[in-house]
Amino acid sequence: MSAEQPVEASRGAFAHRRVFIFAAIGSAVGLGNIWRFPYVAYDNGGGAFLIPYLVALLAAGLPFLMLDYAIGHKYRGSAPLSFRRMSGRGAETLGWWQVGICAVIAIYYAAIIAYAIRYAFFSLDNAWGDDPNAFFFQDFLESTTGFGFDFVPGVLWPVVLVWLVVVAIMVAGVQKGIGRTALVFIPVLALAFVALVVQALFLPGAAAGLDAFFTPDWSALTDAAVWGAAIGQIFFSLSVGFGIMITYASYVGRKTDMTGSGLVVGTANSSFELLAGIGVFAALGFMAQANGVAIDEVASNGIGLAFIAFPAIISEAPAGALIGVLFFGSLVLAGLTSLVSVIEVVISAVRDKLDLSRTSAALAVGIPVAVISALLFGTTTGLPILDAMDHFINRFGILLVAVISMLVVAWKMRALTDLRGHLNATGSVPLGSWWSALIAVVIPLALVYVLVDELLLVLDKPYGDLPTWLINTFGWGTAGLVVVVAIVLAQLPWSSRVPLDGPPTDTPEEEVSR
Ligand code: ALA
Repeated sequence: MSAEQPVEASRGAFAHRRVFIFAAIGSAVGLGNIWRFPYVAYDNGGGAFLIPYLVALLAAGLPFLMLDYAIGHKYRGSAPLSFRRMSGRGAETLGWWQVGICAVIAIYYAAIIAYAIRYAFFSLDNAWGDDPNAFFFQDFLESTTGFGFDFVPGVLWPVVLVWLVVVAIMVAGVQKGIGRTALVFIPVLALAFVALVVQALFLPGAAAGLDAFFTPDWSALTDAAVWGAAIGQIFFSLSVGFGIMITYASYVGRKTDMTGSGLVVGTANSSFELLAGIGVFAALGFMAQANGVAIDEVASNGIGLAFIAFPAIISEAPAGALIGVLFFGSLVLAGLTSLVSVIEVVISAVRDKLDLSRTSAALAVGIPVAVISALLFGTTTGLPILDAMDHFINRFGILLVAVISMLVVAWKMRALTDLRGHLNATGSVPLGSWWSALIAVVIPLALVYVLVDELLLVLDKPYGDLPTWLINTFGWGTAGLVVVVAIVLAQLPWSSRVPLDGPPTDTPEEEVSR
């Protein structure tokens, strides 16, 4: 049997622990690291944010990552199958909820990668002229003040291209598609990004940018929202809590050291995140100095940072075209390796449930998701929809399912001791009862606090000043629809060929990825 077909032969597997680690880093390092982290850190206390960030990484992110690993590695299935094997139909609903969240993220994530592809080319001749803001909204997105759904070919076709590439990778399979893509893309990404950061550090004004990034605002530490931002950032960035790591862990050989692997992935992800913060703020420092303004006037959030502030930097910096190609090229590479992990959660679940071939499942999932993605984001209303979907699916999707699944696993299934034993049997980093305490009590309490705080905030003031119909449809509507669909899917029967009771038994062929 070939190295590509060991785990339950047809499900696919990573051929080696190294491939799994690269794929997991590929999933973790994404758009969240490059454009989200720098602004979130700056907005939440600058240097002082690094304290909640590190606490959230060590006390919530890494322990939760281990939980995901334990579930997928022991029960050897997609999120719904693993939860079903753990505790029946009710638990399966949690898995489908995670699958739904991934489908939603995939739909808008592809659009941002498509923007970045166009912008890598725009960087070559500063296509945005001297007004990147007007260029982004009017020329590129063709945003209208009303909310029309007219097609924007300059966005539509790149979205289609992204999906063609992603579906091709998914059809190729776990090892040949996801694994090999990560083995090639991650080293290239690391080189490109280091080159970008070094170049940014030599720009005049870089030191002032770093100063702004690292100067702590200690009062931020007493603000609950700052801790919430840190936990939200860590979960999204590490790809924990929405099925990705359960799915990837199910493709790893049984004797693999999962806890040691998790530390490698977590360290790589956070190192990349800090590097992104340094590079982005060095560049913003240059921009602020060149225009004689304060850093906070050039630092804008999310999409704005990448597609408005960076083009302005590219226009003015020496060797700006190179900075542009490195920056937007990095976004594309980091985004693609994350997008394949997000959509794999859906493909693997559909495949497990219906016992489909890899190709059929990749096409059955990839084509409809790509069509919705193109219809929503290849039109003039794309950006506000993206904003609403991103915000609500993160808060009332990822964080909500995270807290519920931790409580169910800990208190209803009472599975933590067993899962801990599973990881400790082959892991190099022993997990003690402190791990169970974090999962059962500490992290859920912190998450409930964060969610209530967030709920009060959005009830008080509509998110992002978006129109109510748009928030209700694409914000609350999407987050709610995902739950309804999850409940329905959990009622549907599994293929009779899929064993549902408990973890599947070992076969010698599975022992591949040490
Ligand atoms: N972990 C991925 C990111 O940071 C989803 O973008």
